[in-house]
Amino acid sequence: MKFFVDTADLKEIKELAATGLLDGVTTNPSLVAKSGCASFVDLIKEICSIVSGPVSAEVGATDFDTMLEEGRFLAKLAKNIAVKVPLTPAGLKVCKSLSEDGVMVNVTLCFSAAQAILAAKAGATFVSPFVGRLDDIGQNGMQLIADICQIYSNYPEFKTEVLVASVRHPQHVVQAAQIGAHVATIPPKIIMQLFGHPNTDKGLAQFVEDWKKCGQKILP
Ligand code: E4P
Repeated sequence: MKFFVDTADLKEIKELAATGLLDGVTTNPSLVAKSGCASFVDLIKEICSIVSGPVSAEVGATDFDTMLEEGRFLAKLAKNIAVKVPLTPAGLKVCKSLSEDGVMVNVTLCFSAAQAILAAKAGATFVSPFVGRLDDIGQNGMQLIADICQIYSNYPEFKTEVLVASVRHPQHVVQAAQIGAHVATIPPKIIMQLFGHPNTDKGLAQFVEDWKKCGQKILP
């Protein structure tokens, strides 16, 4: 399972890249706004120089012609760009066109299995179902992941990877892995929560104390 980080904050991306556990980055217009960056294009170029895996950069327009132009521009910024387009008829048309040119495309704002089928047919590299936002409105986000993975497995010609987005807590990550989703894009805070367990802290404190007591050493 691949881990992407869901942020446009360079400091967070650098810290997580240093763990060696990061396979990619996703950004969206809200995360870019939150980052306060001076230039979106420069920000994306810098992220692509830090992380070698796919970096999702979202188009700003919603009409076909401008989205295609923006997508082609973004794709030229670095070889690991995944152009992010919304799951609309125009977005999927852009997806098909860019995919045919060999550009990675992440189809975002997916909320149904029907939409995920369309994204796969449009040649998306990734489809991003938003589990947290479905949970927020009383629906079952993880059931959608299970449905999409099952449907895609019926059609080996579908090469689209299921990228679990809008992750709200570690259990979303665990459940996504149990289902067999290809990728989860995870906010930095939740990636750090994945490391933690009170018994790890307690056990380590005990080991450190006992190690000091016994006076042993490892290095000469
Ligand atoms: C990622 O690609 C999505 O834009 C992101 O996961 C959305 O998360 P949110 O629902 O927490 O805004």
